[in-house]
Amino acid sequence: MGAGGLLVGGAGVLGLRAAGAGARSLLQRPQRTPPHGPQAGPAGPALPARQHAWIDHLPTDRYGNPLAPRFDRLLFFDVRGPATARHAQRLEAALQALERRYRWGADGLLFTVSWGHSYFSGVLGVSSPVPRATRLSSFERPVIDDYHLCIHLACNTERRLDAIEAALVRGRRLPGVPGSLALEPALIWRQTRRGFTGAGLPAARQHVGGIPAGDPVQASAPLFMGFRSGLLRNQATEDAVTIESGVFRGGTTMQVSQMELQLDDWYGLLSARQRVALMYSPQTTPAQLRAITTDAPGDPRQLTQAIRQYGVIGHAQAAAQARRAGRPLIIRRDFDTTDGGHAGVHFVSVQRSIDDFIVTRNAMNAAGAHLADRRITATANNGINAFINVRRRANYLMPSRADRSFPLLGAQRPLAMELAADG
Ligand code: HEM
Repeated sequence: MGAGGLLVGGAGVLGLRAAGAGARSLLQRPQRTPPHGPQAGPAGPALPARQHAWIDHLPTDRYGNPLAPRFDRLLFFDVRGPATARHAQRLEAALQALERRYRWGADGLLFTVSWGHSYFSGVLGVSSPVPRATRLSSFERPVIDDYHLCIHLACNTERRLDAIEAALVRGRRLPGVPGSLALEPALIWRQTRRGFTGAGLPAARQHVGGIPAGDPVQASAPLFMGFRSGLLRNQATEDAVTIESGVFRGGTTMQVSQMELQLDDWYGLLSARQRVALMYSPQTTPAQLRAITTDAPGDPRQLTQAIRQYGVIGHAQAAAQARRAGRPLIIRRDFDTTDGGHAGVHFVSVQRSIDDFIVTRNAMNAAGAHLADRRITATANNGINAFINVRRRANYLMPSRADRSFPLLGAQRPLAMELAADG
């Protein structure tokens, strides 16, 4: 392939965007006893202390890459009225009932509970450990979500997620669980987002906006864009994203964005070779892709060559600039969606601090590349930036399992005083 042979047309918007605010110092505070531990009796055996500890509970392929749960659901809520211990007990009892009913894992159920900026600042009146989300590129205009909490449910059976959502949100009986799991006395349901990932699912659901006619998504594709994501070595480890000290020791942060995909040109104009170049790097060959085991190609050290010689940057190559000790800073737990009748991605990631996400997103933007070669703009010839439109963003704090139900409730006053003392 000759230099510049991969150039892709498209009206890019030039511009630079500085990183947003970093996570606040609360993450560094000394540990305090969680005010609300389990309230409703013992849950299943040996549940991991970290809510985000999923990887040991996922099946793997023959190389040891984890296979993501095939179905996901994000439930967003606000707290009903002033938060009390009864609110926390209600939520915790429902979560423990789910843990008793389903084995922890993709074949049973995995879930996390995370809390937004507005929970800490608005409901508790304390300084939030995560910053409010911000716009992260020059070419996006997202709505910034303000939900108090997000429950992420994932498993391999879509109907199970339907039943759990109906039980939590609408008070329906969940087979095999005595009593009601309705969260309504404690929480006001605001929104649900649904999705899927895994071979066969995107092809079966491709008759939606954003995907051109002609069934371009292949039957084997695990994602709408045609490639497999989330290989073992292209993810951070769960240890590396865990908060190590302070109030939220054992927790992590979660970033949730909603993206629309616009794949008319992806499938209508580009060759398979060009899609590989934009997803991985222009230096990536089909033979390399066929030989992938646990680490996708896309060497960031070849970025200068990619820009100068080919006038094209690969997405994985650009994102890999943000590695630390040879591994990415974030664990991606994203999934495709047809919410609203449009192809999209619910991009969920966990990372030690929201700053780690911002650094990664800035790397992916590669906003300075046009200074080296004007064929590359913010969206033209620049990874997959041209094909995704970020509609919503939000940041959350994901406490450890013991502290997941209304974290810091009852601890507002001492915490506020500590912060004031810090000046
Ligand atoms: C439509 C959405 C996206 C798709 C289809 C996608 C797909 C991919 C693929 C196929 C890879 C290489 C293989 C692998 O992950 O194992 C990759 C790598 C990566 N992507 Fe994405 N991606 C998307 C959005 C994003 C976003 C929004 C971010 C975050 C800012 C991101 C961050 C990363 C990172 C950190 C890597 C690994 C880089 C490394 O190896 O160091 N991706 N992505």
